[in-house]
Amino acid sequence: MFSLPLRAGARLAPLEVWHAEEFAAHLDRAREHIRPWVGPAFISPDTAATLRRYADRQAADGVRLYGIWQDGQLRGGVMFTSFDTAFGGCEIGCWLEPAAEGHGWITEACGLLLDWAFSVRGLHRAEWHCRADNKRSAAVAERLGMTLEGVRREAWPFQGVRYDKQVWAILAPEWR
Ligand SMILES: CC(C)(COP(=O)(O)OP(=O)(O)OC[C@H]1O[C@@H](n2cnc3c(N)ncnc32)[C@H](O)[C@@H]1OP(=O)(O)O)[C@@H](O)C(=O)NCCC(=O)NCCS
Repeated sequence: MFSLPLRAGARLAPLEVWHAEEFAAHLDRAREHIRPWVGPAFISPDTAATLRRYADRQAADGVRLYGIWQDGQLRGGVMFTSFDTAFGGCEIGCWLEPAAEGHGWITEACGLLLDWAFSVRGLHRAEWHCRADNKRSAAVAERLGMTLEGVRREAWPFQGVRYDKQVWAILAPEWR
C-alpha cells in the first residue's frame, strides 16, 4: 500500500473497500458536519457500498477516492468525483471530520490530485462545485488558484431549500 506524506505527519492513501469499517467509524464522527455540503449517497451508513461504487468506477478509469490519515486515524479525504479522459476534465471534492479542519491538509491533498491529473494524465480542466454558502470549501478552491466561473442558481436541494451552487475551475496551464 502506498501513501504520500502531507504536512504535520498526515498521509494520503487510497480509500478502498477493505476500509469499510474504518470509514464507517470516521463517518460517525463526520456525518453531521458534512451532511449539508456533500451528496446524500456519500454519507450512507452502507460504507462498503460507497467504497465499492468508487472502486468499480475507478476500474473504468473514472472516479477515485483517497483518505487522509493522521495518528493512524482516518480524518477525511479528497476525491475525483468525475474523471473523464475523453473530455480532458475532472471534478475534485473533499471532506474532513470537524477536528481535522485548519491544518491545510485538503489544500495540499487537492494539489497532489491536480498535479497527477494535469501532469501525469494530461487532463486540461479541473472543476470544484460547492454550495454558494460553503465558505470553507470556496476558500480551498481559491487557495488552489481556481477561478469562480459561475453560479448555478438553486441547483443544490437540501432539506426543502434550494441553494445556489458555485462552479470553480482551473486549467492545466494555470496550474503551477
Ligand atoms: C471543506 C473542508 C474540507 C475544508 O477544510 P479546511 O480545513 O478548511 O481546508 P484545509 O485542510 O485546506 O485547511 C485550510 C485551513 O488550514 C489553515 N492552514 C494551516 N496551515 C496551512 C497551510 N500550510 N496551508 C494551507 N492552509 C493552512 C488555513 O489557514 C485554513 O484555516 P482557516 O480557514 O481557519 O484560515 C472542511 O471545511 C469540510 O469538511 N467541510 C464540510 C464538508 C464540505 O464542505 N466538503 C466540500 C464539499 S464541496
